[in-house]
Amino acid sequence: MGQGLGFGQCKKISEKDIDHAWEDVLVPLGQRSYHIYIGPGVLLETPKYLKGLGSFQGPFIITDTTVEEYVGHDLLNVLKQEGFEQATMLSFPAGEQSKNMDTVVDLARRLLKHGCDRGGLLLALGGGVTGDICGFLASIYMRGIDFVQLPTTLLAQVDSSVGGKTGVDLPEGKNLLGTFAQPKMVLADIGVLCTLPAEEIRNGIAEIVKYGMIKDKELFERLETDWWDVINLEPQLTAYLVKRSCEIKAEVVSKDEREGGYRRILNFGHTIGHAVEAASDYTVSHGAAVAMGMVAVSRISVERGLLAKEDLERLIALLERFELPVRIPESISVEAILENIKRDKKVKAGKVNFVLAKGIGDTIITDDVTNEEIVRALEA
Ligand SMILES: NC(=O)c1ccc[n+]([C@@H]2O[C@H](COP(=O)([O-])OP(=O)(O)OC[C@H]3O[C@@H](n4cnc5c(N)ncnc54)[C@H](O)[C@@H]3O)[C@@H](O)[C@H]2O)c1
Ligand SMILES: [Zn+2]
Repeated sequence: MGQGLGFGQCKKISEKDIDHAWEDVLVPLGQRSYHIYIGPGVLLETPKYLKGLGSFQGPFIITDTTVEEYVGHDLLNVLKQEGFEQATMLSFPAGEQSKNMDTVVDLARRLLKHGCDRGGLLLALGGGVTGDICGFLASIYMRGIDFVQLPTTLLAQVDSSVGGKTGVDLPEGKNLLGTFAQPKMVLADIGVLCTLPAEEIRNGIAEIVKYGMIKDKELFERLETDWWDVINLEPQLTAYLVKRSCEIKAEVVSKDEREGGYRRILNFGHTIGHAVEAASDYTVSHGAAVAMGMVAVSRISVERGLLAKEDLERLIALLERFELPVRIPESISVEAILENIKRDKKVKAGKVNFVLAKGIGDTIITDDVTNEEIVRALEA
């Protein structure tokens, strides 16, 4: 690799750049429409944006212990200094193992202790785990209160903070309890991504590659040409990547909010990816699993004559640029993956939906992919 920075060591952003959001994406959902404001420093502007929401109680920052240290205390200070003296912060231990009902109940009881009533506003400050817990809590606390998403991981900024899916895990599986609940607003501060570990950045990049594959050839090509700036989180480019990802997700979600059909295209690479994650006992990260899943379904697409072989090769080369794996590790058996695909909660009446690539930037959904095709793709 050339000289310079490396995963996540953001380029400097000058002070003059941080006085307004660079991008503003609308998620059009009728009365539940909301804006996503993207740029460096938008978190410092939280008080201004909150004032636009009218009156509410709190706000109550919900965050994990890691983000509390990196960003939470600063956000709490800014809120208190700028008219929100009642602002409070509640944290829980960082990590997926906190995404369960115990955490939700514990937070609900702490909210009660702080006097949070039906006018309360929650701020989900953190990655997808925090967003999912906080959104779920907001959707059931006193039959539903408002919340705002303040995503601090790349994955949360390009994916989980948008679209309104919330939920927690059960010992039997991930995201088995949940609701649909849209936030009032999303503030995606790309400046806070600098402290993210490389693996977390890769998780986000895998989703951006997915958006390119399913909907946007230009985005895919931008990742190919500017890959070095992508991993260095160059600010203008990062803002563009977050914006395009949010626009694509917003467009899909606004057409199919509750995943009747069309929204499934967002699962490109995920049917096999989720099965790989589960078969590895979650030792393979989500981004890595999705990368392997995208390659596998693209192989099936090539076999079916939907995707050119050169396009599969471009996908593989791009993922390798980002140090994402393109092959299933030998330690995971194909049988275990097939078994987990069958167990996926999205399986309906024994049929598994697969999203296949129709060129770069287009997909089709089908439920007739055979086990033999999957095995061939996984063993290729
Ligand atoms: N609701 C949805 O539509 C949706 C979509 C995709 C994923 N998800 C969920 O999102 C979760 C994964 O999200 P995630 O990858 O953001 O995980 P995460 O929330 O656990 O964050 C990853 C790690 O990064 C840390 N972190 C967060 N921001 C940081 C920062 N700025 N600097 C340094 N460290 C930081 C966190 O403390 C955590 O340890 C999963 O539970 C998944 O099911 C939900
Ligand atoms: Zn994903």
